Amino acid sequence: MLYSTLLALLQAATGVLAANSWIAPGAVWYDTDGKKIDAHGGGIVKRGDTFYWVGQSASNSETPMMYSSTDLLNWKNLGQQASGVTGLWRPKIAKPNGSFWLYGQQDRYVLSLKSTDQAGNYKTVNKVHLPPSDYSYSDTGMFYDEASTTWYLLTSADHNTVQINKINSDGTVGARSSVLTGGAYEAPGLFFANGLYFLIVSGKTGWRANPNKVFTSTSLSGPWTGGSDIAPAAQNTYGSQNTFELTVQGSKQTTYIYMGDAWDSKGSTGSNYVWLPMAVDAGKKSVTLQYHAMWKVDVNTGEVSYPSGSKRYAAEEAVVRKRDGVGKGAGNKLRTGDEITFHNVTGTGALQWLAFHYTVNNPEAGQAYITINDEVYPTNLSDHNSRAGYHSQVPVQLVLDPGHVNTVRIGATGSSGKFCHLV
Ligand code: GLA
Repeated sequence: MLYSTLLALLQAATGVLAANSWIAPGAVWYDTDGKKIDAHGGGIVKRGDTFYWVGQSASNSETPMMYSSTDLLNWKNLGQQASGVTGLWRPKIAKPNGSFWLYGQQDRYVLSLKSTDQAGNYKTVNKVHLPPSDYSYSDTGMFYDEASTTWYLLTSADHNTVQINKINSDGTVGARSSVLTGGAYEAPGLFFANGLYFLIVSGKTGWRANPNKVFTSTSLSGPWTGGSDIAPAAQNTYGSQNTFELTVQGSKQTTYIYMGDAWDSKGSTGSNYVWLPMAVDAGKKSVTLQYHAMWKVDVNTGEVSYPSGSKRYAAEEAVVRKRDGVGKGAGNKLRTGDEITFHNVTGTGALQWLAFHYTVNNPEAGQAYITINDEVYPTNLSDHNSRAGYHSQVPVQLVLDPGHVNTVRIGATGSSGKFCHLV
């Protein structure tokens, strides 16, 4: 079985009443209609007080989908953006010369689309390979340089260099500013902080996560140096791949956000998102993802906060059903067939956060599953949060019945012989 130590707590976070009160890396993220957000390999721009997130739709043949939000938590689906356009990978928003553009990769070309409005009705303008040598490429990134008021297209060209091209004021792909050589990288994203440009890239391991890295330069013309990991290497960027860096300039602080994709095994609808604030050190030229199971940023002040004061349901008070009898309390080990039942869990009748606390010795070797009330079939926790098993706190959003009336069961499946412990 999968666990070495186990299930300590079930935790109902405060602030449960508003569905999307937190960003929970890896958790299924629901839009304001209660549907899973479907904008992978995406990017964000802010217009006025509204953020627009565009990404590829895994459920609609990689057509670009857009969402809007004023708090980076609750996202409204603005729908498909370009009728008839499919297979557009990692679309990004840009706005050269006041127009509204999307750029993404289609058939290894840059496809550019334009609309008269921020949302909807994007039409194809150009389909080109990359200057200067007609390169084909895979992954698209985007960066707006405030210093030069210029948009830059970031690409991972098939000849294994990440390159940066200006976007001309007429929206065409312009001259190459610089390249990142010295390694095969992809999924580029860029931000500017304290006098330095930070370029974040992924290794090339397909849909499997790898340790993403940061390179820096004082100029978009390069040279780019560095290559340090943005998270402990063994964490594989917390199971994600870079897609975009978002800067939130608040009244009290500027917060830099890493946006990553937690791809499933083939980049399809099971994929989730890992967004995390970054600690940025221009002196050390380093970026370090600040991992928290739940967090949020105040878009006005720029301040980051975390849940506190949650109601806890300790495993000690839960009922443990062992294959060979019923037990209660700490120190129990759970194996396949054993279950822990939490009674009288408080529900709101709407989506709310519940955080499961447990550790496992091999997250690849089995699954934790949960059953709510009289559900006939359990669901795997990893269907609710792709960090299940990889972090000791696993927040998921569920709808429970209103009141102190819910029963939540957790158990494990996997190869037998290993144990769960109540702690
Ligand atoms: C890379 C890219 C993804 C996707 C996969 C397919 O990881 O970054 O966007 O194209 O390859 O294998």
